[in-house]
Amino acid sequence: PNEPPMVFHWFPFIGSTITYGMDPPKFFQENRAKFGDVFTFILLGKKTTVAVGPAGNDFILNGKLKDVNAEEIYTVLTTPVFGRDVVYDCPNAKLMEQKKFMKIALTTEAFRSYVPIIAGEVQSYFKRDPDFKGKSGIVDIPKKMAEITIFTASHALQGSAIRRKFDESLAALYHDLDMGFTPINFMLHWAPLPWNRKRDHAQRTVAKIYMDTIKERRAKGDADKELDIMKHLMNSSYKNGTPVPDHEVAHMMIALLMAGQHSSSSTGSWIMLRLAQNPRIVEELYQEQVKALGADLPPLAYEDLAKLPLNQAVVKETLRLHAPIHSIMRAVKQPMPVPGTKYVIPTTHTLLAAPGVSASDPSYFPNPGVWDPHRWQSDSVNAPTIVRNVVEEEEKVDYGYGLVSKGVASPYLPFGAGRHRCIGEHFANVQLQTIVAEIVRLFKLSNVDGGNTIIGTDYASLFSRPLEPAKIRWERRA
Ligand code: HEM
Repeated sequence: PNEPPMVFHWFPFIGSTITYGMDPPKFFQENRAKFGDVFTFILLGKKTTVAVGPAGNDFILNGKLKDVNAEEIYTVLTTPVFGRDVVYDCPNAKLMEQKKFMKIALTTEAFRSYVPIIAGEVQSYFKRDPDFKGKSGIVDIPKKMAEITIFTASHALQGSAIRRKFDESLAALYHDLDMGFTPINFMLHWAPLPWNRKRDHAQRTVAKIYMDTIKERRAKGDADKELDIMKHLMNSSYKNGTPVPDHEVAHMMIALLMAGQHSSSSTGSWIMLRLAQNPRIVEELYQEQVKALGADLPPLAYEDLAKLPLNQAVVKETLRLHAPIHSIMRAVKQPMPVPGTKYVIPTTHTLLAAPGVSASDPSYFPNPGVWDPHRWQSDSVNAPTIVRNVVEEEEKVDYGYGLVSKGVASPYLPFGAGRHRCIGEHFANVQLQTIVAEIVRLFKLSNVDGGNTIIGTDYASLFSRPLEPAKIRWERRA
């Protein structure tokens, strides 16, 4: 009786699956205009309730453990890819401990060592890649960003030994693992289809590579001097005293790389497409480095990134319009009254948060459709309300993996909020800012036709990637 309004549909099971799936942001916007911030639609036979705006984000992302559940929804997709006993194949309390282990390895000290590693990988990529020979050319950028992301992330997060294996066996195996990460698998994850067989074979093989590496490192004892994430996880223990078993270390290593790969690679592609659309910004970025770091452009260090506000804003603004995760889902465990409304969400529904809706809402972001990195300066005409009226100190909570902001006051949440919030935000920013800074040093970018169009989004994968091919023109700096 007190359920939110239902989006009209013709066919029982299909419901709005097709209109939602073709363009989720458009679907949210249209139905929000009709029904307000809370409404229900049928997604593959399941009543799915969307709650948007800062209040909707808060309602879902900061939902209590007794009310909402993430693992029930995600496990079919993630467990065959990551492996058993980690992330969504364990109780939430265990995930919170695992997030703490993974997060502790992402310290400022670690980031200092990551920036030269990432910069070095970008430079050597452009030296050896045949598509970047000569003075200028045209490339399909998503393919390139996918490679740059995996080389930089594996080297920085997993160490040089694992990075070398990406030149041989690991790249193809991760590609097969990846194929498990498709929306079809929300229904067909169990099916003995060719891509699922490949996924399962790849999972076993990759996990074995990591477990062999762990054994070798344990055998070396003190002689193993590398202080990377694997080493840190190998030496971690749960609160009850149990050391993290080797297979869980291996599976967390897979989860870390997979969690970062798609979102960072897609964001990297969108940044390059936006820069090609706005060649003037590329020049501003170059001049920003010359002014802040010196005309000789010395090797990039972690501390330099904070001296490049436009470089930071380019990443931030791209995530506003192209957040890779457009839909965040939760199972409902108890009837949930929606604050400020008469609605109660029954346990038969799934909840869907879409922080991208408030991130493109004109009441928070003037001219929301315009990609304008300068809007993040408080004196810009497009400055969002959250920048102009600096909000009072954000409320923070600890779910077991360190203090995180609840994000209640913010219409901008590309990294989520609450107990499932991203632990990779800082790494992703460091990785992307370093990649952009290095590319701007090497190249000028523009659209192939010299115009200022932008390519559409492919929502058929789980992440909001550019439709391919997505070609841009590069020209080497003199
Ligand atoms: C969770 C976004 C990069 C690891 C999340 C969530 C979002 C997100 C929205 C919340 C999901 C939910 O509530 O269901 C992003 C974006 C990235 C990025 C936009 C890059 C631009 C990374 C990287 C790593 C990572 C590089 C690893 C180093 C994780 C982990 C979680 C998470 C472990 C926790 C999942 C949970 O607690 O349920 N991310 N992420 N992410 N992310 Fe990221």
